Amino acid sequence: MNGIIVYASKYGSTREYALLIAQKLGVEALRASEVPSEKVRRPHYVVLGSPIYAYSVLPEMEAFLESNREILEGKPLAAFVVCGDTMWNPKAGEGGSKNLEKLTRFLSAEPFTTAIFGGRMRMEELDEEDGPRIRAFYERIGREATGFDRMEPGDVDPFVDRINEFLASGV
Ligand SMILES: Cc1cc2nc3c(=O)[nH]c(=O)nc-3n(C[C@H](O)[C@H](O)[C@H](O)COP(=O)(O)O)c2cc1C
Repeated sequence: MNGIIVYASKYGSTREYALLIAQKLGVEALRASEVPSEKVRRPHYVVLGSPIYAYSVLPEMEAFLESNREILEGKPLAAFVVCGDTMWNPKAGEGGSKNLEKLTRFLSAEPFTTAIFGGRMRMEELDEEDGPRIRAFYERIGREATGFDRMEPGDVDPFVDRINEFLASGV
C-alpha cells in the first residue's frame, strides 16, 4: 500500500530517521514545509516525524498539520518524535511519552503506531539562537554543555515492522 513520510528537522537527525524509514518502506519522505497538499491527498497512509524543541514540535510540523487537517482525517497515521530526552520520567515508566504527546495532540485520531527515537545535538552546529539557549540551559542545571549523540538507526526496524504489520492486516 502506498504511503508517504512527512518530517520536520532543523539539524538533520529527524531527516536521517525519516529517510531510513522511507527507504525501508519503499515510499517518499518529504519536508513538512515543502510538501504540496496534493502529495498528501493521494497516499493511503502518512508517517509523521518531528524533533522536539523546547517541549514542542517544530513550527513547520504544526503548520503542516494545521493546513492539511482535513486531508489527514480518516487516513491511517503513524507518528514518531526525535528528542534528547527519550526517558522523560523513567521512574514512572513514561519513557519520553510526554514528548510524543507534543506531536500526537495535534492529530484528530490515534496513530496506529508511534515511536520515540534518540536524537543528536552538536554544539558546534547550533545557530545564534539555539547555541546561547542551550548553553544557558546547561548552566542552569550545572552541567557542561557537551551536546550528545543518541541516534540509533536500528531503532527504526521495530517501527517499520509495526507499519508493515498494520498494512498487511488490510485495515
Ligand atoms: C534549542 C534546542 C531545544 C531542545 N529542546 C528539547 C526538549 O525540550 N526536549 C528534548 O527531549 N530534546 C530537546 N532538544 C534536543 C533535540 O530534540 C535533538 O537535538 C533532535 O535530534 C534535533 O532534531 P533535528 O536534528 O532533526 O533538528 C533540543 C535541542 C535544541 C537545539
